[in-house]
Amino acid sequence: MSDRPRLLPLLGSPRHGNRDSMTCLYRCGNACDHPVPNNSDNAYFGDVVSTEVSRRGVVRAGAVGALVLGFAGAAGAAPASAAPAAPGTAGAAGEGAVPAVPEVADFSARQRAGSGALSFKPIPPNQLDNLVVPNGYDHSVVIRWGDEVVPGAPDLDVHQQTAASQSKQFGYNNDFVGVLPLDRKGRRALLVVNHEYTNEELMFPGFTGHDALSVEQVKAAMAAHGLSVVELERVDGTGQWRPVRNGRRPYNRRITALATKFEFTGPAAGSVWLRTAADPAGRTAIGTLNNCAGGVTPWGTVLSGEENFNQYFVGGDGAPAEAKPKLARYGISTSARYPSGSRKWERADERFDLAKHPNEANRHGWIVEVDPFDPDSRPRKHTALGRFKHEGANVIVASDGHVVAYMGDDERFDYLYKFVSDKKYLKGNSWVARRHNLTLLESGTLYVAKLDYTSADEIDGSGRLPTDGAFNGRGQWIKLARGNRSYVEGMTVEEVLTFTRLAADKVGATKMDRPEDVEPSLATGKVYVALTNNSNRGVGANPKADEANPRTANKHGQVLELVEDRGNNSAESFAWSLPIVCGDPTDPSTYFAGYDKTKVSPISCPDNVAFDGAGNLWISTDGNALGSNDGLFATAVEGPERGHLKQFLTVPIGAEVCGPFITTDDRSVFVAVQHPGEINGATIDKPASNWPDGDFAKPAVVVAWRLDGGPVGS
Ligand code: FEO
Ligand code: CA
Ligand code: CA
Repeated sequence: MSDRPRLLPLLGSPRHGNRDSMTCLYRCGNACDHPVPNNSDNAYFGDVVSTEVSRRGVVRAGAVGALVLGFAGAAGAAPASAAPAAPGTAGAAGEGAVPAVPEVADFSARQRAGSGALSFKPIPPNQLDNLVVPNGYDHSVVIRWGDEVVPGAPDLDVHQQTAASQSKQFGYNNDFVGVLPLDRKGRRALLVVNHEYTNEELMFPGFTGHDALSVEQVKAAMAAHGLSVVELERVDGTGQWRPVRNGRRPYNRRITALATKFEFTGPAAGSVWLRTAADPAGRTAIGTLNNCAGGVTPWGTVLSGEENFNQYFVGGDGAPAEAKPKLARYGISTSARYPSGSRKWERADERFDLAKHPNEANRHGWIVEVDPFDPDSRPRKHTALGRFKHEGANVIVASDGHVVAYMGDDERFDYLYKFVSDKKYLKGNSWVARRHNLTLLESGTLYVAKLDYTSADEIDGSGRLPTDGAFNGRGQWIKLARGNRSYVEGMTVEEVLTFTRLAADKVGATKMDRPEDVEPSLATGKVYVALTNNSNRGVGANPKADEANPRTANKHGQVLELVEDRGNNSAESFAWSLPIVCGDPTDPSTYFAGYDKTKVSPISCPDNVAFDGAGNLWISTDGNALGSNDGLFATAVEGPERGHLKQFLTVPIGAEVCGPFITTDDRSVFVAVQHPGEINGATIDKPASNWPDGDFAKPAVVVAWRLDGGPVGS
């Protein structure tokens, strides 16, 4: 008898996935309604890639030798160096100096290549206006939109929203979640969260249109973007966490789109493409926006991806002619004064008008690095990691000591990238090591992925598994730039890094089904890519299905696994396969690593991925096209349980699941509940969801834990 939960009938008419059109408008400026920005004919001219792979397309990764596994909270995690702690970079703030980094070990040191069964009983698909966790678990809201971040922030008053108040409060639409330990005993931690975008209809009572908002309200929305850093404390020795509510809380910080200054680093810093009237040197940007996913680095910083930045700009039609193709490749309209979804931020700050400041768009779309342990530090935008619609970035230390950041460009038919640092990682958190590691992302090699196939002739868009038993093949990392050198004909290194999509077009990168989160397992070095969906795959003149993107009009997405050659994450070639092809398991086009599909939870539109300490893969969804609310799922990725996907959690109506983050001790699962109640016609006055407080919907971060104190996965 199957224990697979039954599917629900669809709610209304789905757009992309089951996402409501209100989300499409506010989150990505109706990206799917616009022509695909990638209409390049990027036929590959490089070397022919070998197609010899094992039957499953999997070459076992070697041990990732450079990693020292184990959480600082456990025994034996002493810092690698006895050098003195930082002489207070943060402490420069004065009284009550903050140590630059606490005495915890390698922030990446936390995973085993576990293959055991997940212990929780999967929850069924549902459409409840609530957050649902398995029996034996509990959950609570950690922090919600409008809660205090900077000590002294006023309570949220939706009728009196100002830039000043929002700049101290928790921002809107939380996405990435990182939890970084602050002590060895696991009592304190820093929560770092992205605030991707705002939905003014769900924020401002009486909203009648963006033109009718006051400039102060526009600035409040700008301040609701960015990141928050919040000091947390564990509750009563359980897996529950809450914000520290009293005392100085020196780490607590808001970073906003409105006012925070960012330093550009790397080869494109200061280039002609980044210079504006306000910043003639091209080295200092104001603000970060549309920060989607991200990652925690081994040296205890947070990376954050600037994603759908295009929707914040107007005036593309008035930009210089030579700028227009570059703007268009990033989805910025060059023909209409106000592309749909414009937030009209140019009413508050004219730099969002490209007719006046055409380079301002080039100052967004980067990977941002924030040091949460140094609240006075200026965050950086790293040009060496390229500019595209960055979903996020996740770092691993390769076996040769270089650090590797994996990144997706979330757009239909865009690409998968990686960056390999020039310098090697220094272990430990001594002042010397940390100073060094903070420079690792400033110089290196940027690559884009080109895939080859084993069963190309058999791919017909139906998703039928090839006769060799796998969607699989080999691939190459094609070099775009290294240090100050361009590897793309006709483009300078500054152009390659600033207009990375155009550079990748030229070298024949593989067009993927919306690469979202990309994360390596720190235990095995294998890399997992969420390819969320692609409504246009194989439709009309768009590229046809291929072995890595095997379904026409792909509604449910797939997960790609990369195994780098020689187990070295800085290698220039790899094997790949699809362990999961998502959807209703009764749909013959789905695949769950060969696991018995009657025991698998239905899943649709994978977006964010994460690992627990046991090495299980956790996957959150955005836009479930199977009729259920979005959810969080987990599966082993090694051994006989590989592919046994189980649903752990669902979020309220209209929301998607972001984050997720499993703490290093495996006792807490954090998720960000983004855009609850974002349903067409809903407003803050007439909410479609009452979560979490019974009044109007508020995005919030939630923690779930096991009541018996055991590990949350296996
Ligand atoms: Fe912001 Fe690609 O999701
Ligand atoms: Ca194959
Ligand atoms: Ca996302």
